[in-house]
Amino acid sequence: VRAAVIALLLAALPAVAQQPAAPDGKRNDITGPFGVRPLWQPATAERSRPGDPAAGRVLAAGREGAGNWACHSCHGMDGAAEGSGAFPRLAGQSAWYLFAQLAAYASGERAHPEMTPIARSLTISDMQDVSAWYAAQTDAPLAPAPRPDVRTLQLGAALSAAGVPARGVTACQSCHGAGGAGGDLMAPVLAGQYAAYTALQLRLWKRGERNAGALGVMPRIASGMTEDEIAAAAAYFASVRPAVRASVDPPTGDATATQR
Ligand code: HEC
Ligand code: HEC
Repeated sequence: VRAAVIALLLAALPAVAQQPAAPDGKRNDITGPFGVRPLWQPATAERSRPGDPAAGRVLAAGREGAGNWACHSCHGMDGAAEGSGAFPRLAGQSAWYLFAQLAAYASGERAHPEMTPIARSLTISDMQDVSAWYAAQTDAPLAPAPRPDVRTLQLGAALSAAGVPARGVTACQSCHGAGGAGGDLMAPVLAGQYAAYTALQLRLWKRGERNAGALGVMPRIASGMTEDEIAAAAAYFASVRPAVRASVDPPTGDATATQR
């Protein structure tokens, strides 16, 4: 079933010529997997510029001038956030995912009292730059892993590996990668994310309060989960420490793929 779903998703992507790989091999732009700009992220000239991490660092630190909010005060300079779990870890997420979220906050699709005005204070280039900065923070320290009881860990691991097909809960790792290390198909890193944040996002989807997002699958998956399962998945992903991060880089295409 998993293979069929992925095959279907891939079939839905427009066929494109193979694109040359970026010099650094990193996904530091906003194309989707395989260098394809997904249909649900409409192509615009502005979006086709790779972010500049150095400029993004300035934004993270807080740019002078009214209306700009220092990201570091909540997310940290390295994107590890301040540890309470109230603010998500951004470190090492793909720039594509981070940009998509900033664009969604700015457009009001993903509504949030703090992030919506902050995203609206950024230009498209700012979003690309600050996304590139946080995407590059792959060495940011992880918060101490929570120590859920064994039953909770087992339930979380089972959800990741197998899901609950009868309730439409697809195995998390089929998209988010083994141990939630981040996958292709636009699925963000879950490993090391604060449990409180992960659980909140699943509940928001369940209540229809977060936009469906890329692929549009998360509302269905979260709706099929019980409150116990949400808590278990959140605790499991907060505590896994994958040694090797799954590839979040598309096999082909990158900066040069977007210079049209
Ligand atoms: C006042 C605290 C605060 C500041 C300052 C702040 N954020 Fe956030 N950010 C949040 C909170 C809270 C959330 C979670 C919101 C939600 O549940 O949708 C969030 C979510 C995000 C997300 C989505 C993460 C994900 O995994 O989906 C991104 C991307 C982001 N912030 C980027 C930024 C950037 C870039 C800046 C600086 C320009 C910034 N934030 C400044 C509080 C803050
Ligand atoms: C078919 C692919 C797929 C499956 C299966 C899947 N996800 Fe996702 N997930 C995604 C995508 C794509 C996103 C990004 C959505 C967006 O653009 O807002 C996402 C986002 C999330 C987020 C938001 C992370 C953040 O930083 O805000 C959480 C939490 C999450 N998924 C948890 C889960 C859990 C738990 C499971 C298993 C029970 C699961 N997902 C299964 C594709 C999937």
